[in-house]
Amino acid sequence: MRRRVRGPTRARVTPDASDAAAGAVTLIAGGDVVDGTGAARRRADVLVRGDRIVAVGELNDVRCKKRIDAGGRIVAPGFVDAHTHDDRALLSSPDMSAKISQGVTTVVTGNCGISLAPLAGREPVPPLNLLGDRRWFAFADVEAYACRLESQPAAVNAAMLVGHSTLRVTVMDDLSRPATAAESARMAALLDEALQAGCIGMSTGLAYPTAAAAPTAEVVALAARLAACDALYATHMRDEGDRLLESIEETLEIGRRAAVRVVISHHKASGRGNWGKTRESLALIERARRTQKVDLDVYPYAATSTVLLPAFVERSERVTITWSEPHPEAEGRDLDALCEQWRCARAEAIERLQPGGAIYHQLDEADLRRVLASPRAMIGSDGLPHDRFPHPRLWGTFPRVLGRYVRDEGLLSLEEAVHRMTGLPASVFGFEGRGYIAAGAYADLVIFDPESVIDRADYANPREPSRGIERVLVNGETVWRDGAWSGRRPGRLLRRH
Ligand code: ZN
Ligand code: CU
Repeated sequence: MRRRVRGPTRARVTPDASDAAAGAVTLIAGGDVVDGTGAARRRADVLVRGDRIVAVGELNDVRCKKRIDAGGRIVAPGFVDAHTHDDRALLSSPDMSAKISQGVTTVVTGNCGISLAPLAGREPVPPLNLLGDRRWFAFADVEAYACRLESQPAAVNAAMLVGHSTLRVTVMDDLSRPATAAESARMAALLDEALQAGCIGMSTGLAYPTAAAAPTAEVVALAARLAACDALYATHMRDEGDRLLESIEETLEIGRRAAVRVVISHHKASGRGNWGKTRESLALIERARRTQKVDLDVYPYAATSTVLLPAFVERSERVTITWSEPHPEAEGRDLDALCEQWRCARAEAIERLQPGGAIYHQLDEADLRRVLASPRAMIGSDGLPHDRFPHPRLWGTFPRVLGRYVRDEGLLSLEEAVHRMTGLPASVFGFEGRGYIAAGAYADLVIFDPESVIDRADYANPREPSRGIERVLVNGETVWRDGAWSGRRPGRLLRRH
């Protein structure tokens, strides 16, 4: 039974027998509630029973055994990491410490065209291998992956995208050309299956060798199947550098032709010659929004990261190796320093380091701030959990936005930032009952200190947990407190229904 209490009214909620059956009761007392809508914070208590928030307001007279003092702290909905590559991490590191330590309670997997399923018995060519080697790609269909995740849940909730590159690798022997009609039909069938298994959409990575040869029409044909069930299309666009604006046009065209909602992933302008282009790209997106549905996500760093690819190296100021199968000793090292040591050109060093990954310093802070300041940009870490020397965004994204860009620089208000980490992505991705603090909502919650919250992971020490995130609840259960995972795994798979 649920009691609804709106606003700062007095409520008398005492646990009775049926409540006990519904789960433990916890009062989070005296915090400043930032509710996820963007509304100004207000002092309120939050009462949690089982997996739900049952009341918000002045609840001082509620008697309950468990009480969390949140005085001087912000109580917010748990953060939604709008852009992740956590498909495998959910299974192989179910504590998900990199995420819960930041206040993240839900992750969206399968981005950039790369999903763990459906791909079985095939070599995960780059960039698919950023999720792991062949033995991790063991799911012939998304339903098998979903069942595995449900039978061995992680600490966080997850929602799945299915990757276009994963579909291509599954049905095509030659990725350097458009799919044939027969191959497209097979991809469409696999996509339908994935949607039936609860995927919330499809992602593409048209910048990658696995999908660069796919013409717009190949994507439109698949994206049109998403429209039928109101699933969405997320894209790492064809070119985020010299042809950034053309790529936005292509994305918008796909959205219009397929009548599908689009999400532009990790929006940026890559390469010194393209710095400043986010002025035009954001204007383009804003204009398109009058006639079609388009959203975007961003991470708060001026360096990108993915597998090691010559084209990405070319437009970078500096490159750091994040992993290398044949040369683990190169991990964390600067590519040019390696070239010097090995007395070889960049191209040869890249060849020798394969397979591997890298951090590319290729963005301008001014572009980053412009995107972060734009009112509809969701926050997505794009963290790469299996890199041995990962980009610091994996551990630092959310506290960095709250500490550096909100508190220290005043680029956006705390309420606005929280909205873009919670209510906004929950509505874009269709997470019912999540992303807000209100009676009846799921108790995905984060309690943090607005004065001290900050990222500590950096390019030299990329695995440092952040500071200031004091407690995190997922579906009513504490998963993170006192700087450590609680041992609980209450995460659920959020299947599209
Ligand atoms: Zn990407
Ligand atoms: Cu990505």
